[in-house]
Amino acid sequence: LARAYHEKVISHYENPRNVGSLPKNDKDVGTGLVGAPACGDVMKLQIRVDENGVISDVKFKTFGCGSAIASSSYMTERVKGLKLEDAEKIKNTEIAKELSLPPVKLHCSMLAEDAIRSAIRDYRQKRSTMSDPKQKGFIDVTQSVVTGQTVATAHPGA
Ligand code: FES
Repeated sequence: LARAYHEKVISHYENPRNVGSLPKNDKDVGTGLVGAPACGDVMKLQIRVDENGVISDVKFKTFGCGSAIASSSYMTERVKGLKLEDAEKIKNTEIAKELSLPPVKLHCSMLAEDAIRSAIRDYRQKRSTMSDPKQKGFIDVTQSVVTGQTVATAHPGA
């Protein structure tokens, strides 16, 4: 071997964390599916988001090189427990540094950055089309705790 891979890459490659899938149609799940034009490798990364906007579960499947598999495995560990706003700030340079990827392998870590962003985007999109009241119009019924009166407020759609 001309260049020995860093042991962290080997560890994530041989024993990848969080491999698998989450139910794509689940309303709490966001799916990111991205490809690297340079080599044709593909990465799927899925997140489950709890009611506080925190990533509670992550799964990935990567059809790609060892560095791409290691990058996605690292990314899943890194984002678990993070708020979406913090997860979307993670840069591929951080992954490359952590795994000591050589410059020719930078695009592999870029896949992981693209994948998490794409998963977050998918989750948000799903949420906004599902719960945007302006889309359908809805009636909000609340019972006043003080008077016991039922108050219905209509919100006609846009
Ligand atoms: Fe394509 Fe690594 S060579 S992702």
